[in-house]
Amino acid sequence: MRHFTCVHDLGDLRQALAEAFEIKKDRFRFTELGRNKTLLMIFFNSSLRTRLSTQKAAMNLGMNTIVLDVNQGAWKLETERGVIMDGDKPEHLLEAVPVMGCYCDVIGVRSFARFENKEDDYNEKILSQFIRHSGRPVFSMEAATRHPLQSFADLITIEEYKKKERPKVVLTWAPHPRALPQAVPNSFAEWMNATDYEFVITHPEGYELDPKFVGNARVEYDQKKAFEGADFIYAKNWAAYTDPNYGKVINTDRSWTVDTEKMALTDNAYFMHCLPVRRNMIVSDDVIESPRSIVIPEAANREISAQTVLKKILSDL
Ligand code: CP
Repeated sequence: MRHFTCVHDLGDLRQALAEAFEIKKDRFRFTELGRNKTLLMIFFNSSLRTRLSTQKAAMNLGMNTIVLDVNQGAWKLETERGVIMDGDKPEHLLEAVPVMGCYCDVIGVRSFARFENKEDDYNEKILSQFIRHSGRPVFSMEAATRHPLQSFADLITIEEYKKKERPKVVLTWAPHPRALPQAVPNSFAEWMNATDYEFVITHPEGYELDPKFVGNARVEYDQKKAFEGADFIYAKNWAAYTDPNYGKVINTDRSWTVDTEKMALTDNAYFMHCLPVRRNMIVSDDVIESPRSIVIPEAANREISAQTVLKKILSDL
């Protein structure tokens, strides 16, 4: 595998899952693979889980790691071509990216949607420049439209906990005070559509996702109806996708918070969230602290998804 930006880059999903479970059984089996190889992790946005889990995964494979927070200590980067650079950004991405490529073998990039221009976000303007100009394999550590390392960890977690061959998985919108990107729900939907699970998306009107990601999912506007008989509830907030509200918060309706009463409608479902999560906005304290909450094992599987992806990239260097 050269680059990793979405589920389709992995090839056979069953095989990728099998590799992930092999790695989970013995995560130090491939420590020679990354010897004398350097991973550069570039963050345009904050992170806890992605930063730690990806660095740990690289170390498990014997790699060296460099972490760069672009907005803390590096030169501010201009990303638009044609701009007269007389402002506060002394370096252009078009020089910075190939320079970064000189110091490493693999690059991970975190670059969220900016909500300034939908086309730029949905064309993955930043991530695609790394792919084009760095000369290195590039993987997404959450880009404008997808968070594939998270979705891979989510899938690993569902496979570990599922009691039925074909569980019912529900992605539910939940309220949040700020505008959040669609990357996690888009990506989760894309990965769920790559399985044969029963997959339902529920959200208030106005929060429709890009149909390209919704795929074959059933969209149900009645959250309680969607929860009926579910085996997994995956909660997430996202800002509006559809015009003219792209990137806006159009509703913070707390009746959409996942609580014990709604979880009682499910088939004793597990509760999932990618974290960080705002308690009592997205989910009640009771639900996230309940024995059916699997948010911590889900986060732990981020190390496994990152290691599986890095192993595939290193194997093809
Ligand atoms: N879930 C996730 O990506 O967490 P971080 O933003 O903390 O990396």
